[in-house]
Amino acid sequence: MNDKVFSDVATISEFMLLTERFKHIEGWLSPVEGYLLYRLARDGEGSGAIVEIGSWMGLSTAWLAAGSKAAGREHVHAVDVFDGGPVLKDHDFIRKEGTTYHRFTENLEGLGLFDYVEPIVAESGAAAQAWTKGAVRLLFIDGDHRYPAVKQDFDLWTLHVVAGGIVVLDDASEHYPGVMQLLNEVLADGKHWQHLLRAGKTQIFRKLQ
Ligand SMILES: C[S@@+](CC[C@H](N)C(=O)[O-])C[C@H]1O[C@@H](n2cnc3c(N)ncnc32)[C@H](O)[C@@H]1O
Repeated sequence: MNDKVFSDVATISEFMLLTERFKHIEGWLSPVEGYLLYRLARDGEGSGAIVEIGSWMGLSTAWLAAGSKAAGREHVHAVDVFDGGPVLKDHDFIRKEGTTYHRFTENLEGLGLFDYVEPIVAESGAAAQAWTKGAVRLLFIDGDHRYPAVKQDFDLWTLHVVAGGIVVLDDASEHYPGVMQLLNEVLADGKHWQHLLRAGKTQIFRKLQ
């Protein structure tokens, strides 16, 4: 036995506790993807805001906010139109309630994390152009997955990401050809982007310049 064993078990134990804590929130993020966001928010290099595009009912927001709050770091700016956007407008919840905003706030307040979240109720392109909060160290992209939309999110929001900052692209899978197309373009651009990891359906990049 050595210290590595204890530290591995402590990590697994933390992962399981957080998974349990957030399991009631409806969303599409797996626990491993969530834990990755938690660790990037808690332990990621540099300083600057954390920005999430696409919050829905707050599952990924909770993982990010919990990580940053655990380390007393930056707040999470959660950008969403909260009406499902063009793709989720026919989701049962949106048909019934019209918005996920009330569920988003209830979920985060219930977890004691809303004090670490700054909601931006806006279309993501407009929000990027109106952004005045300076450098972004961690950007999570999980909004509209169609190519023109995800490409616009990437192009407009990465302008605010500091060199050395991290971008996490969600839903890079065959179900979302638009995200795959963008992923392949970013992978081919080794001058500006270093690919770090694939975890589940998320892909993680570091901005080089
Ligand atoms: C896949 S869901 C996000 C899931 C969330 N990250 C989670 O962990 O459960 C996509 C979200 O993006 C939002 N959305 C879609 N198009 C958008 C746009 N152009 N601007 C802002 N939000 C948008 C939708 O309202 C929806 O809440």
